[in-house]
Amino acid sequence: MSSPLQVRKAVIPAAGLGTRFLPATKSVPKEMLPVIDRPAIQIVVEEAVAAGIDDILIITSPYKKVLEDHFDRAFELEARLAAKGKTAEVDALRAIGEQAQIHFVRQGEPMGLGHAVSMARRHVGDDPFAVMLPDDIMVDGGVLLRGMIASLQDTGASVVALKEFPFSEISAYGCAAHEPATAGSPLVKITGLVEKPKAEQAPSNLAVMGRYVFTPAIFEHLAQIRPGVGGEIQLTDAMDRLLRADGMSGFVFSEGRYDIGQKQDFLRATVELAMEHPELGADFTQFLTDLAKQRLS
Ligand code: UTP
Repeated sequence: MSSPLQVRKAVIPAAGLGTRFLPATKSVPKEMLPVIDRPAIQIVVEEAVAAGIDDILIITSPYKKVLEDHFDRAFELEARLAAKGKTAEVDALRAIGEQAQIHFVRQGEPMGLGHAVSMARRHVGDDPFAVMLPDDIMVDGGVLLRGMIASLQDTGASVVALKEFPFSEISAYGCAAHEPATAGSPLVKITGLVEKPKAEQAPSNLAVMGRYVFTPAIFEHLAQIRPGVGGEIQLTDAMDRLLRADGMSGFVFSEGRYDIGQKQDFLRATVELAMEHPELGADFTQFLTDLAKQRLS
């Protein structure tokens, strides 16, 4: 029999407007922007699978049908590739949609991240589950998410990913107040959450990143939240209630995250991953080295 704290499901909210990446995201969803040759959403799904998740619900919008197409079969393309003997390519295409059960639900209107997560209630049911924001891609083979799941299994409490930032940058993020850390442990007990604090008012330099593992109690709290500024239902408000009711852990990590919702970090992801790419890496690194020498001389 499976343990009641097994985490098999992930929810990926992908119904936002992507305004920071206009005009690219006018007709192409932000989640479909490629990092080299894989769309961001595929990288996030692969991370979930690497962490042991086999059921993924993507919250999408009426304008993002292409997300559903990406995880569906492409019979004509597969047949044409097969006719040319390109069986490895056919297998790779099929694997995109077969690596997990992938489901979709539409958020008719972008009423906030909290609202998007609440749309997963029926699908998730009474089990703990992960929430993965596709703006954040992790290049860590699922290590962070696996660690967060193990923490929920140990303590029974929800877990949020935290990363250290200089105080001068903390006002761009949700910030966690916490009890002192235990040496050698990535876990901290969170005592409060403050949305986008000024540097001098920030309770710590740990910012909330786009990976969460929640108990299903989060849905009760989301149902109590009234829309705030701009008519949006904020996930942070529900997390604040959950934290006070049941406690919450923070899982501090440092490596492997790219915020591809920001142009600068999107470029960093592309360049760093290209340098490590098994086929392109050596040539691309040489190209960059030559280019840098030329431009800096
Ligand atoms: P963001 O506000 O960072 O993303 O939401 P956005 O709205 O897509 O992009 P910008 O800020 O306008 O450039 C964080 C995550 O929550 C999802 C987004 O798709 C993103 O993954 N989201 C946000 C929803 O699914 N629904 C919403 O109503 C709002």
